Amino acid sequence: MERENLIRFGVSMPESLIKQFDHEIASRGYENRSEALRDLVRKSFLGPEHLQASQCVAGTIVMVYQHEAADLSASLTTLQHQYHEVVISTMHIHLNADQCLEILVVNGKLSRLRKLHQSIQVQKGVLFAELSVTHVEKEKASLHHGPDSILK
Ligand code: NI
Repeated sequence: MERENLIRFGVSMPESLIKQFDHEIASRGYENRSEALRDLVRKSFLGPEHLQASQCVAGTIVMVYQHEAADLSASLTTLQHQYHEVVISTMHIHLNADQCLEILVVNGKLSRLRKLHQSIQVQKGVLFAELSVTHVEKEKASLHHGPDSILK
């Protein structure tokens, strides 16, 4: 990957805000303000309002559900088969006697991922389902990522 030029600029902030910021970034393990600010700016561009439905993205769908709800496990499996081209990997954790946590790693068109997420969310017995986007493809989507294409 080619290195980009770094551009310096001055930022003015109220003293109380900068104190809070320094405290916060130290607790998150950042070495300096620039590093923390860069991450904040990058993350702000991953917000749903900046993404278009046609964009190719990678992320996760995290859900918690009652596994004994009628036919739910079967419907969720069927759904994942219907969307097999965007579901890269799944992890299933039996949380307790009646609840399961499932994490899907997804990669594909945002519109398709939103549809999958919505279909999961409306199932009876699904207590929580969240789609989060962690990476946006710059060019055409490729299912195979090198380690440097994943954001920190
Ligand atoms: Ni389970």
